[in-house]
Amino acid sequence: MKLETVLAAAVAGERLDDGALAFLLGLGEPAELEALFRAAYAVKLRYVGNRVRLRGLVEISNICRKNCYYCGIRSGNGKVSRFTMSREEILEAARLTARFGYGSIVLQAGERNDPAWIDFIEETVRQIKAIDGGRLGITLSLGEQTLETYRRWFAAGAHRYLLRIESSDPEFYARLHPADHRYDERVAALGFLREAGYQVGTGVMIGLPGQTVSHLVRDLRFFQKLDVDMIGMGPYLVHHDTPLGREFPETGSDANRQLEAGLKMIAVTRLLLRNVNIASTTALQALAPDGRELGLLAGANVIMPNVGDLAYRKGYLLYENKPGTDENADSARVSLERAITAIGERIAYDEWGDSPHFAARTGSR
Ligand code: 5AD
Ligand code: SF4
Repeated sequence: MKLETVLAAAVAGERLDDGALAFLLGLGEPAELEALFRAAYAVKLRYVGNRVRLRGLVEISNICRKNCYYCGIRSGNGKVSRFTMSREEILEAARLTARFGYGSIVLQAGERNDPAWIDFIEETVRQIKAIDGGRLGITLSLGEQTLETYRRWFAAGAHRYLLRIESSDPEFYARLHPADHRYDERVAALGFLREAGYQVGTGVMIGLPGQTVSHLVRDLRFFQKLDVDMIGMGPYLVHHDTPLGREFPETGSDANRQLEAGLKMIAVTRLLLRNVNIASTTALQALAPDGRELGLLAGANVIMPNVGDLAYRKGYLLYENKPGTDENADSARVSLERAITAIGERIAYDEWGDSPHFAARTGSR
């Protein structure tokens, strides 16, 4: 296959077959990667422009009933001291997000589905919605829930939801999770989100032990089939207090390879899905100080700066060496703005920054 031909076809919006996707994901030469990123960037400019959408990220609790084999805050990790932010602390972070002009907020936590938690989230969303007359867009990332719960949170004012499929291959999914974490239930939850009216985001981890290019091609097809509005994905990073980290202590330790794999997946996703929002995630920044900017240059258009209280950050270590655990929201804002300007992009201040894909599929605006 000739790279120029494949990229020209991709930029023109021609159909990419599985062979072409695998070919692009398998590129390795610096000049080839540069060409791939340049093509993805051109498609990004055409469909979503060069204004970065920001979401203030608040990690509101590290309590989780799940036990995913790769995750540092899995319920089985007894070394984690557990926290839940108070409503007032969350509202304080929301007010800060509004004051910064970030336009929208993401509430993220481990998975809980007890009634007290569901009520707590519902009321918190309602109160965030009341800030400055509903100025902030609200995204939730709180795991698998029932259709009813998703509906209640939507009615309270949340309008976007992130639920990563982690891997779209059922067999591979089963290798990454205990038996009671069911792939089909996760897919069903993604359907509930759509049914409840959310803009839906999903994603996967990249560079997992045992993951192949065909897994990633399948993931891309999954995103496409689900017709998602947003993508949040990033490289897998080892945490040694997890079953996966203990079994494969070396996987994910080659930072450059993990970074490259993450950037390639962003670029190919942009070529394939065109008008969706794609996040340049913290995991990229964990691998290189300018990882998130590289993500933007490879086709991503969303950044989620942490606006939560510094006191809690070290309690939310999904993987080791997570960046930003000692930088407060204010200084992060200044450095982020500088970094974004330096690559020739601008920040879309005070906008919800909804996915153009959502508007297109629902015929709104
Ligand atoms: N490396 C990278 N990402 C991880 N996540 C969890 N553990 C890890 C890890 N070790 C991701 C999962 C989850 C999100 C909140 O964090 O994809 O959906
Ligand atoms: Fe819980 Fe999410 Fe970590 Fe799984 S990845 S253990 S659901 S916080």
